[in-house]
Amino acid sequence: MKNTAGGEAAKRAAGEAAAAAVTDGDRVGLGTGSTAAHAIRRLGERVADGLAVEGVATSYQSRALAREVGIPLLALSDVGRLDVAVDGADQVATDANALVKGGGAAHAREKVVAQAADRLLVVADDSKLAATLDHPVPVEVLPDALARVERVVADAGGEPTLRAAERKDGPVVTDNGNLVLDCDFGGVDDPASLARTLSGVAGVVEHGLFVGLADAVYVGDADGDVTRT
Ligand code: 5RP
Repeated sequence: MKNTAGGEAAKRAAGEAAAAAVTDGDRVGLGTGSTAAHAIRRLGERVADGLAVEGVATSYQSRALAREVGIPLLALSDVGRLDVAVDGADQVATDANALVKGGGAAHAREKVVAQAADRLLVVADDSKLAATLDHPVPVEVLPDALARVERVVADAGGEPTLRAAERKDGPVVTDNGNLVLDCDFGGVDDPASLARTLSGVAGVVEHGLFVGLADAVYVGDADGDVTRT
């Protein structure tokens, strides 16, 4: 019998399996979050064993971890194309090739990296799979556009909640100096259409719907088994 869904073993298995798919000479996008962190640590071990790669971090946290484990880094602003990127997700609808990302408020840089990469390898534990996306969609917003974007999200059937900082009073501020609205649309039947709607709103820096970007999804389970789709 299988163990219950999710958990650290599942995340590690997925992250390490994707790290094994990185090859010598690759320029690698380094995602954000606890599952991507397993991939970064494993890549660091491979670099210590002689693998020659250059990494591009998607957040302050992934940059710090990559430095710690010895992955040579390039700045995202200097790189127009990557061979591969490895990143996590908050929810994965494999049928629709659509993801919700942005739990770490890093989805703007993550999407730049995902689009720059020839291959995006998504890493997730099995609790993240869903037939229909219903996770709130993070929307990074210019502070001055907050009220306007809240209004547009509500008109589109969503319920926006300003993301609050965990350890201090006040909102989360992204690495880019913006705010995050977590927008609950219930079930998203047409992620591509919602993605277009959100992208069309002035003041939306980026939203967390990643449609048609994943080239492979590595799903780990609590027994440490990985399925690649
Ligand atoms: C950060 C992300 C993360 O990849 C996502 O939140 C998943 O994180 P975790 O692997 O810790 O569950 O999109 O912006």
